[in-house]
Amino acid sequence: MLYDKIKDYLKSGIYPFHMPGHKRSKAVLDGVLPYEADLTEINGFDNLQNPEGCIKEVEKKAAQTYGVGNAFLLVNGATGGILSTVRSMTNYGDTIIMARNCHKSVYNAVELCGLNAVYALPDVDSEFGIFASISPKQIEKLLYENNNVKLVIITSPTYEGIVSDVKSISEICHKFSAKLFVDEAHGAHFPFSDKFPCEAVKIGADAAVVSLHKTLPSLTQTALLLTNDNSIADRLKSNLSVFQTSSPSYILMSSIDRCIDLINSNNILFNEYISNLKIFSEKCKSLSKLNVMCCGNDSLSNHRFYDFDIGKIIVSSVNTNITGKELANILRDKYKIEIEMAYTDYIIAMTSVCDTKDSFILLSEALLEIDKTCIRLEKNRKNLNYLYQLPERKVKSSEKYKFKSRKISVNNSLNMVSLEYVWAYPPGIPLIVPGEIINKNTIMQIKNLTQSGINVHSTYNKLPNEIYAADLIDKI
Ligand SMILES: Cc1ncc(COP(=O)(O)O)c(C=O)c1O
Repeated sequence: MLYDKIKDYLKSGIYPFHMPGHKRSKAVLDGVLPYEADLTEINGFDNLQNPEGCIKEVEKKAAQTYGVGNAFLLVNGATGGILSTVRSMTNYGDTIIMARNCHKSVYNAVELCGLNAVYALPDVDSEFGIFASISPKQIEKLLYENNNVKLVIITSPTYEGIVSDVKSISEICHKFSAKLFVDEAHGAHFPFSDKFPCEAVKIGADAAVVSLHKTLPSLTQTALLLTNDNSIADRLKSNLSVFQTSSPSYILMSSIDRCIDLINSNNILFNEYISNLKIFSEKCKSLSKLNVMCCGNDSLSNHRFYDFDIGKIIVSSVNTNITGKELANILRDKYKIEIEMAYTDYIIAMTSVCDTKDSFILLSEALLEIDKTCIRLEKNRKNLNYLYQLPERKVKSSEKYKFKSRKISVNNSLNMVSLEYVWAYPPGIPLIVPGEIINKNTIMQIKNLTQSGINVHSTYNKLPNEIYAADLIDKI
């Protein structure tokens, strides 16, 4: 069923402005068929959990490419690296500071490690309705206010490509003897052109994860964990064997090997990519109602972004008569373009070295045509993006099982303790975390996002009408 569905889909000719970064490009990729490369730990093929031979060589090559002391191959995405790193950099019950816009894998790590998470809430950019950078001052203030913080975790770049001042944040963390871990899942391509922001570990982060599959020509689930911190190397190795499969796919590992060789040996790929992005942004300057965040948008310096990734294309429809979701539908139905993500008032198109000049032209011309048919609204639609105050927390997420849980309609859950996560996925940033009190704002956000067609998931359901929660007195 799934296999046939994929075969049929490939015949449809829809162009992928989404992950994986290889874009199924026959022009860039080559190599043997997946089945033929599907080996296991037979003689001479090393072992990911204790690499000494050919896998070690790929790790060394990756470390050299990213200019770090240690690179570990990840075969279940950045997710496995995030779980392993958080567990390696903390002891059970420690206090950490994390950006509220971290990916769900960070929240899962916090829960598994019983951590006390203090949140840094980034500003929301008023024009694009997306989270802006985390500021060094914010982190410094939280470090002053909270004793004995072991670890700070931020996402840079974010799903939307927003980068924080990692250098200054790392200096502040180190002043307070805290480590800095950067979720750089969307920044695997940063080392390959000076037009991209600088890589986190190079400018002071103690560790970072990069998802090769998101922005480079590599198969889905491939990623790297990068660190210069030898003091945690053994703990990392041990935790990677907890959170990663004991049967790592040789197809995925060889895809990492190929990807690194390809990008190291082919400067032209990145030069052409940057030039295509520039041509695209030039064309988008003629848009009058839709607003594109890309390399040519001069107004971006007025925003609360420290920096951003020019490879991410964000198209805002905020002042028009169409929502982000409707824009995505028009692109798919009329122009055969599938984008990465549609939110209330914007879409994300993901690009990579595997996108052709023609594909950028296809996207820019589609946007120009749609722009002509859009109507500018005098008054903005109600902004449904993440404009929230943090819910009050009663207990740590790891303590959720200490409550007598009951399933209750979201409408009736006011002032109860949530025992599950609710997030719009993507981007997978929670509206509520287990242990937090459900307030009016949370209920309103769940309802509004669901009504506007955004995929809202709870831990157990899509489009949650009901939620597992408890009264405060129902602690077991
Ligand atoms: C910011 C961020 N971090 C981490 C992840 C997890 O990465 P992976 O899918 O490689 O496990 C994602 C996935 O979308 C993400 O957006």
